Amino acid sequence: MPPRFSPSLQQKIEDRLRFYEDLGIRLFYKDREPGSAGFIPEAAPSTFSATAAVLPEEIALPKAAPKSAATPRPAPTAKPAAAVPIVLSDAGGTSLFESVEKIADDTLLKIREDLGDCTRCKLHKGRNKIVFGDGNPKAQLVFVGEGPGADEDMQGLPFVGRAGKLLTQMIEAMGLQRGDVYICNVVKCRPPDNRQPEPDEVTTCSPYLLRQIDVIQPKVIVCLGATAAKTILNTTRGISQFRGEWLEWRGRKLMATYHPAYLLRNPPAKADVWKDLQKVMLELGLPLPKKSKS
Ligand code: URA
Repeated sequence: MPPRFSPSLQQKIEDRLRFYEDLGIRLFYKDREPGSAGFIPEAAPSTFSATAAVLPEEIALPKAAPKSAATPRPAPTAKPAAAVPIVLSDAGGTSLFESVEKIADDTLLKIREDLGDCTRCKLHKGRNKIVFGDGNPKAQLVFVGEGPGADEDMQGLPFVGRAGKLLTQMIEAMGLQRGDVYICNVVKCRPPDNRQPEPDEVTTCSPYLLRQIDVIQPKVIVCLGATAAKTILNTTRGISQFRGEWLEWRGRKLMATYHPAYLLRNPPAKADVWKDLQKVMLELGLPLPKKSKS
């Protein structure tokens, strides 16, 4: 029998269940049907708190982490873990970007103007809007994804689709807002059918990414997924070999973690990502959520 909830309560329950699911809390879900946007809750909402209480610690993400009194550039309050960043490059020791000179007095506006109505690579043919990047131009934390999807292409903004909503939840779980960080991609135009960007497209577009990072001067770069990590680090190694490790790139700390789209397909991996993000929080001096009593 279908549950007897009013449509608005039904919607609220759906939203709440989707939120928990996106955090990797799946104990009261059946798996989604492949390709289906819906889900079938197994239990009434009254079981929420009881279920949440038995979650393993590492996936018990806070609904919203305590807001840092956070300015976008919070002063470190905790000593960062003794992470020794390593330089990772297995392709001749030179990063793709080493040859790109730092441009004096560069600004995000100049970079956007230089990009113009770009036709430098074939991706321009199918694009609707260039997705340059979005967020705080002085952010301490920059997230780099792969390339725009359909929603991003329509809106001209990065990470606004389903994976983007999960990224927003990840950012909020860190005690930040999207506007505190900067979000951009390796390529600025949507690859057809959401395929991975091809090497010539990455080579053509990524200098703009480099300039964005140089201008923003973040303390930490988080690469979301293999394309961002491999592009910036110039490595052919699989992301699982260095995910969650502090790496160094042009004197900045870099952490590669899984892409939110991968997490939507593999929710258990959210526990790993949350561990990675907590390392980033420590580095930025953001308060970690209090551990719940077992
Ligand atoms: N995936 C990405 O890598 N970037 C976006 O902007 C959206 C989805």
